[in-house]
Amino acid sequence: MLRKFMLFFAVSLFVFTFGLANLAKAEQVVKVGVDTTFPPFEMEKNGKVVGFDVDLVNAIAKVEGFKVEWHTMDFQGLIPALQTGTIQMAVAGMTITPQRAQVVYFSKPYYHSGQSILVKKDSNIKDLADLKGKTVATKLGTTADIMLSKMKDIKVERFTNIDDAYNQLQNGGAQAVVFDNPVNINYASTHKNVHTVGKLLTGEDYGIAISKQDPKLLEKVNAGLEKIIKNSEYLKIYRKYFGNDDAGLITK
Ligand code: ARG
Repeated sequence: MLRKFMLFFAVSLFVFTFGLANLAKAEQVVKVGVDTTFPPFEMEKNGKVVGFDVDLVNAIAKVEGFKVEWHTMDFQGLIPALQTGTIQMAVAGMTITPQRAQVVYFSKPYYHSGQSILVKKDSNIKDLADLKGKTVATKLGTTADIMLSKMKDIKVERFTNIDDAYNQLQNGGAQAVVFDNPVNINYASTHKNVHTVGKLLTGEDYGIAISKQDPKLLEKVNAGLEKIIKNSEYLKIYRKYFGNDDAGLITK
């Protein structure tokens, strides 16, 4: 009897300990918010979320051992969703700004960017000064919107989806689009009647935004980013989307 009991006890103890160890090993699932209207950083292909930001976060998750669950939403909804805890992370070509950094954490920069002016090739707009008196289309709530809103003598039209801003330029409702340069370049590569003009209007760094309730996740993301920059996985992903254009490249 005693022996049986001891055997039972030993087996139970084993099962219990093993179970606990497995539980501890179970991978954390991180809900990541994304606005898939920002190619080539994030877009939707056959119902799947793809792009530079997506590959980047997947690579970080792999080296840091967590799983990713994608949540698509409007850009403007990302920070509120981080604040309420609907998501723990957001990757959306989001520019690190002091205002945003008050309410969310940002990872180290993963891409250098800036705003550019996109016009029709037959336009005589050459730089920022030429935008005076013109209608300029952009995406609502982005750094382009914030910058344009401070400028006098420009009529700004704001859209939730940047595609509508580009359409507005195409149909003559706006004379320019001011938006993140890599996304403007991406649009111009498939629409031969438009091009970017002048110098970049700003210098901006993209960072991965993380909920202030999750400082451990911030540490993991920064550690993972550092690892994939060191082991060249970052460079591989970068080349896949941006080829030999090193303007946005981060080296450390
Ligand atoms: N970089 C700009 C910003 O942070 C625009 C980002 C838009 N991103 C997107 N996924 N739609 O305001």
